Amino acid sequence: MARHFLSILDLPKDDARKVLLRAKQLKDGDVRTKLLDGKTVILIFEKASTRTRVSFEVAVRHLGGSTVFLTPNESQLGRNEPLKDTARVLSRYADALVVRTFGQEKLDTLVQWGSIPVVNALTDEHHPCQVMSDVLTMHERTPELCSLKVGWIGDGNNMAHSWIEAAARFGFELTLACPSGYTPDLGILAKAREQGARIVLTEDPQLAARGADYLNTDVWASMGQEAEQLRREAAFEGFQLNDALMALAKPTCKVMHCLPAHRGEEITDEVFEANADTIFDEAENRLHMQKAILEWVFGAL
Ligand code: CP
Ligand code: NVA
Repeated sequence: MARHFLSILDLPKDDARKVLLRAKQLKDGDVRTKLLDGKTVILIFEKASTRTRVSFEVAVRHLGGSTVFLTPNESQLGRNEPLKDTARVLSRYADALVVRTFGQEKLDTLVQWGSIPVVNALTDEHHPCQVMSDVLTMHERTPELCSLKVGWIGDGNNMAHSWIEAAARFGFELTLACPSGYTPDLGILAKAREQGARIVLTEDPQLAARGADYLNTDVWASMGQEAEQLRREAAFEGFQLNDALMALAKPTCKVMHCLPAHRGEEITDEVFEANADTIFDEAENRLHMQKAILEWVFGAL
């Protein structure tokens, strides 16, 4: 049975910790194993990407494997070949799929009809590889994750959902401040709480900022929501991560952003640049975390 990484809850608690520590070990030792020697990973990207695509391609090469990059425009996916047929074909050529797409159910189809591991490289619902990298970024600064108060200010989107699941796996306290109508999926929230996550959901950004060790934000309109940009700009007024909100957080508070950032919208240039070290560490950690995730799906962890 292939192992899949579709959301953070796919990692049992012990495995989540193992993946985190392994990513740190890979980073510190600049380890290049031959785990993927002779193996091919296919990247299917139905949305744009800089970090996820490049970090996965480089990670696979460092592990001795090779990649094939597919987009809908250049494959039969864009001409309505059913995903279940694509899954069965690609499973006969390659050893894993890394997929960026829209609905999470597309990953479920690939899992159901294919026979190789599937890794979520971002869907509308989750961005688990990113948030695992972000947790590594916190862990490097504050090893005791359970002691942390983390705030999310902005859209209840794919990133927010993965943070919710990360709270269940790593034990930090998470306060999400989202405008009315842009709250996270309540089913995802309930499941994480059932698994022990300590989560507060509010419409007050000041509540999320107050006393925070880490504050997170993300774009107000995610990929696929471009037509909603203006409506969202109005709805998210007061949710910009700026000096006034930062003044409520702990003086040592660090800001995280998965990138790309829209300065002047969800974050000011001042707050972004004051936290650039942390933000670009998150981006670097994508590379180390992708390797650890690949080790996990291939059963090496
Ligand atoms: N953070 C992130 O996933 O970036 P890309 O969209 O560039 O991959
Ligand atoms: N929420 C953003 C994350 C980009 C990495 C999006 O889905 O576009």
